Amino acid sequence: HFTIDSHLRRSIIINAGLSLVGFFVTVRMIPVASRYVLKRSLFGFDINKKGTPQGNVKVPESLGIVVGIVFLVVAIVFQYFNFTADSNWLVEYNAALACICFMTLLGFVDDVLDVPWRVKLLLPSIAALPLLMAYAGHTTIVIPKPLVPHIGIEILDLGWIYKLYMGLLAVFCTNSINIHAGLNGLEVGQTVVITYAILIHNIMQIGASTDPEYKLAHAFSIYLVQPLLATSLALLSYNWYPSSVFVGDTYTYFAGMTMAVVGILGHFSETLLIFFLPQVLNFLLSLPQLSGYIPCPRHRLPRFDPQTGLLTGTNDGTLVNFFLRKLGPKSEKSLCIYLLIFQGIACCFCFMLRYFLAGWYK
Ligand code: UD1
Ligand code: MG
Repeated sequence: HFTIDSHLRRSIIINAGLSLVGFFVTVRMIPVASRYVLKRSLFGFDINKKGTPQGNVKVPESLGIVVGIVFLVVAIVFQYFNFTADSNWLVEYNAALACICFMTLLGFVDDVLDVPWRVKLLLPSIAALPLLMAYAGHTTIVIPKPLVPHIGIEILDLGWIYKLYMGLLAVFCTNSINIHAGLNGLEVGQTVVITYAILIHNIMQIGASTDPEYKLAHAFSIYLVQPLLATSLALLSYNWYPSSVFVGDTYTYFAGMTMAVVGILGHFSETLLIFFLPQVLNFLLSLPQLSGYIPCPRHRLPRFDPQTGLLTGTNDGTLVNFFLRKLGPKSEKSLCIYLLIFQGIACCFCFMLRYFLAGWYK
């Protein structure tokens, strides 16, 4: 397998180089784009600073559009340097790019038009169509070893149900990032932590496997994950506390969709869902309000006290409020750091779980 390995390595390194260029272009373009969005009145007020001078500043909104465009250019140009290509893979890779592009468009539409959130919830299922239609990979799941004697089969073919699952995964990944939000740096910060974990997972899997098809699946994940990480870090440098730009639903949808297609193409969506543990918890806490059982206000943010500069939890069902109620009042910045550390712990937990359950699938 030596030739595949050296080809793979070369492609991955070139992809990393292009991603680095993407990082600098994004850093350079965000201030330019900020001026343009402000001119068209695309801005928001920083709600957790209400009552302080910073609370009156118009913060440019939807800067995720820069990340989305730079990401797409990097991912498209990279194909020219991909030495591992086989034509099946390129069809799916481009279908994945179509999904990400479609999602970025719909996210931007949402930022400009403020779509009602029940409609918003469904946008990702439309954007996921290109990959669902082009997907020619397997639609099977492996039954864990200890269950095989009871069920009588080792592999279960789910057929179209598997495609339905892929669509639901896209809806979950996008919306769960979008509703775990409201603190400076949280939307991008969680994406950076998860993306980093996905990258490590892919590298570990390539190193551990001898199956060329399997290695290729994880390599194609890396080709999308590296530019996502690089461009997101550039955005984080502006969105970190105190934010000079907001990311918009353009970014949360773009990032969620990219991670979903990466999990689908790399065939590790179960692992991805464990990386998303904080988002799953936040979703469960949100269910009463999302379902309409309890009224859901436009913003579900903590309460800010301009006197102390600290945030306290409210009754809204979010992980942010849950942390505030458990930890006591916190500043916006340290609360965000706590939540990102929790995200990191969830990722480590996932690696441990995979390690201990390895015997279930081998
Ligand atoms: C989601 C959440 C909502 C939360 C909002 C902002 C649900 C169902 N929806 O709505 O509760 O209030 O994200 O995170 O859970 N903003 C800040 N500080 C930040 C980030 C955003 O004040 O660090 C404010 C700004 O006014 C900004 C606006 O939120 O303009 C953006 O909100 P948007 O992303 O459009 O809200 P949703 O995604 O619809
Ligand atoms: Mg949002």
